[in-house]
Amino acid sequence: MAIQSIVDEQETEYQKGVKQLYEKGIKKLPRKYILPSHERPTKDFATKNGGIKQNIQLPVIDFAELQGPNRAQVLKSLANACENYGFFQVVNHNIGDGVISDMIDVGTRFFGLPFEERSKYMSANMKAPVRYGTSFNQNKDNVFCWRDFLKLMCQPLPDVLPHWPSSPQDFRKSAATYAKDTKHLFVMLMEAILESLSPAPETAAFPTADGEVVDEMEKELMEGGSQLMVVNCYPPCPEPDLTLGMPPHSDYGFLTLLLQDDVAGLQIQHNDKWVTVDPIPNAFVVNVGDHLEIFSNGRYKSVLHRVLTNQSRNRISVASLHSLPFEYTVRPWPKLISEQNPQRYRDTDFATFLQYISSCEPKRKNFLESRKIC
Ligand code: OGA
Ligand code: NI
Repeated sequence: MAIQSIVDEQETEYQKGVKQLYEKGIKKLPRKYILPSHERPTKDFATKNGGIKQNIQLPVIDFAELQGPNRAQVLKSLANACENYGFFQVVNHNIGDGVISDMIDVGTRFFGLPFEERSKYMSANMKAPVRYGTSFNQNKDNVFCWRDFLKLMCQPLPDVLPHWPSSPQDFRKSAATYAKDTKHLFVMLMEAILESLSPAPETAAFPTADGEVVDEMEKELMEGGSQLMVVNCYPPCPEPDLTLGMPPHSDYGFLTLLLQDDVAGLQIQHNDKWVTVDPIPNAFVVNVGDHLEIFSNGRYKSVLHRVLTNQSRNRISVASLHSLPFEYTVRPWPKLISEQNPQRYRDTDFATFLQYISSCEPKRKNFLESRKIC
C-alpha cells in the first residue's frame, strides 16, 4: 500500500515533465528515463563509430539563389538532398533574425514560467489547439524521454490564437509572426520541391486553368494546409548516455522546418549511422516527412532522427510541421505514376494516422511502413 502510493506519487511527478526534475537538482537519472541498453545513444557510437562522435554537414540550400538565375542548379541540389539525406539546411531565407530570436526567446521564457502557469495547457486531447506535455507519447511511453513540449495548432490562426498562452505577454505576437513567416517559407520551398519532382521540367508547378484534381492537391497544400508548431525544451540531463531527448522517429507531414538554438542535439540516420547536425546560426533544418515520401512515391525520403541530451546546457528547438488540411487524403502525385512507376503507397488520411499513433508506440517508421504496397 505504502509502496504503491510512492510509485503513484512518482508517476504524477514524471507527468509534470523534466524541467521540474532538473530544477530539483537531481544527480541521477530516475529509472523512468533509462532506456534499455540497446536503445541508448552511446551504444551506436561504441559499436558503429568506434566511440567517436560523428557530425554531418547537411546539404545547404541558399534560398536567395533559388529565387535567382541559378534556380535550376539549386533545384538539383534540393532533389539530391531529399533523395539521399531527407534533410537539408536553408540559409538566406528572408525570415528576419529578429523574428527568429524573438521566437527562441519567448519559447525559453515560456518554459521558465512556474509549473502552475505552464500546466494550464496540459491536455490529453490530441486535437486541442494548444497542448503542453512531456516525453514523446506521454500516455504510451514506458520509458520517458527527456523533453517537455508545447504544441500549437496554427490554422486558422485567428481561431486558434486566443487559445495560445497569454503569458509571457508577448508570446502570441512573437509566435504568430514566426508561424506566418515559416508558413510562407514552407510554401516557397514546397513550390520548389514540386518543380524538382515534376517529370516534365517545362510544366509549371501551378498550371492555372484545367481544374484538374491533381492541381487541387497542390493548391490545398499551399493555401489551406495544416501547420503545427512544437516548441521543444530539453533541460540539462544528469546522465545523457542513458536516455534521449526524443526517440528515433520520422515526422508525419510534408516538410518540417526546424529551428534549433546554438546547442547541438539533433541526430539523423545517414548510411546506417547516427550523425549530429551542427547548428548553423539562424538557418532552418528542413526535413522530408512521411507525407512527402508518399506524395513523391518513395523518391524523397522521410528519414529517422532523434535528439541527444547533454549535461550542461538547456536546449530549445521549434519545429513547424506542414501538411495538407487534416481532412485530406495523401496519395502519390498522380503525375508521377505510370506503368514503369506504379503507386507504392496506399492512400492515407489523417484519421488513420491518429488512430495508428494512439494505438501503438509511434517509434521508428512503423506508420509509413504500414502504408507501403509491397
Ligand atoms: C521534432 C524533432 C528535433 C529537435 O520536433 O519532430 O524532430 O532537434 N525535433 O528538437
Ligand atoms: Ni522530428
